[in-house]
Amino acid sequence: MNITDFDIYKDLLKRASGLVLTQDKTYLIESRLNPVAKKWGYSDIAAMTAVLRGVPPKELIIEIVEAMTTNETSFFRDSKPFDIFKNTVLPYFKNKPGHPKRLRIWCAASSSGQEPYSLAMILKEEAIRMPGWNFEIIATDISHDILEQAREGLYTQFEVQRGLPITLLMKYFTQDGDKWSISQDIKNMVQYKYFNLLEGMAGLGQFDVIFCRNVLIYFDQPTKKIVMENMHKLLPDDGFLFLGGAETVLGITDEFKAMPNNRGLYIKSTSAHMQAA
Ligand SMILES: C[S@@+](CC[C@H](N)C(=O)[O-])C[C@H]1O[C@@H](n2cnc3c(N)ncnc32)[C@H](O)[C@@H]1O
Repeated sequence: MNITDFDIYKDLLKRASGLVLTQDKTYLIESRLNPVAKKWGYSDIAAMTAVLRGVPPKELIIEIVEAMTTNETSFFRDSKPFDIFKNTVLPYFKNKPGHPKRLRIWCAASSSGQEPYSLAMILKEEAIRMPGWNFEIIATDISHDILEQAREGLYTQFEVQRGLPITLLMKYFTQDGDKWSISQDIKNMVQYKYFNLLEGMAGLGQFDVIFCRNVLIYFDQPTKKIVMENMHKLLPDDGFLFLGGAETVLGITDEFKAMPNNRGLYIKSTSAHMQAA
């Protein structure tokens, strides 16, 4: 692929989704967009690129963006953030005087659902220690296809073997042919919606906790800053933000600070809560 063609895809992806495409990822364009070109009846990627130079159909752009997203995820990915959520964040709200018995959690790039369902299973297990509490999990992603998979809640043997404790597999999944289906109870705890992180976020409402893991790594610094600062507005003074293991606020925004000894967990810089924890 020549540089001018590459730039077409680079600009399109940056504008539509924030994803930054570097020249060394040219092979990704070829392997992931060939099937899209075929599906749309173009002889090859070059023919599709020619269409993109004009006024392409909106649906084609959506399919290109979807094909270029990386949906890698797993149940209880990196385990530690889920331990922190269970052992630090939940007890904080549970013991906070005057906090309504309600928690709103946003999974901001939820992929095929393993992350929000992991949180739902934790909340289900903890419900006995938090009687009368109402938990709302909003899970969003830019890919319609991946959201459909998440809603379906069907996972392969390989997927349930990655990070999911056997006790939870036995308790919350049933075998469905060669796949595992997550229980309706857990599915009902998660509300899936299409949402592009580049959009204004005010319509989503306020959250107590935001999980935004392993998506900012694909964005450039100015986009990361905008996304984090928009999220800052959705959190109360004592809200929590979880980022992925390779992500940080350092050098990007001063609005959040890392919680010492809780890797991946961030609180508002102006906030004094939890500092003694
Ligand atoms: C690598 S997965 C991370 C999934 C999960 N958060 C985790 O850590 O396992 C990244 C997800 O971000 C989504 N994504 C990429 N760009 C996005 C955007 N602009 N808005 C919303 N989601 C986006 C992708 O579709 C993909 O499902």
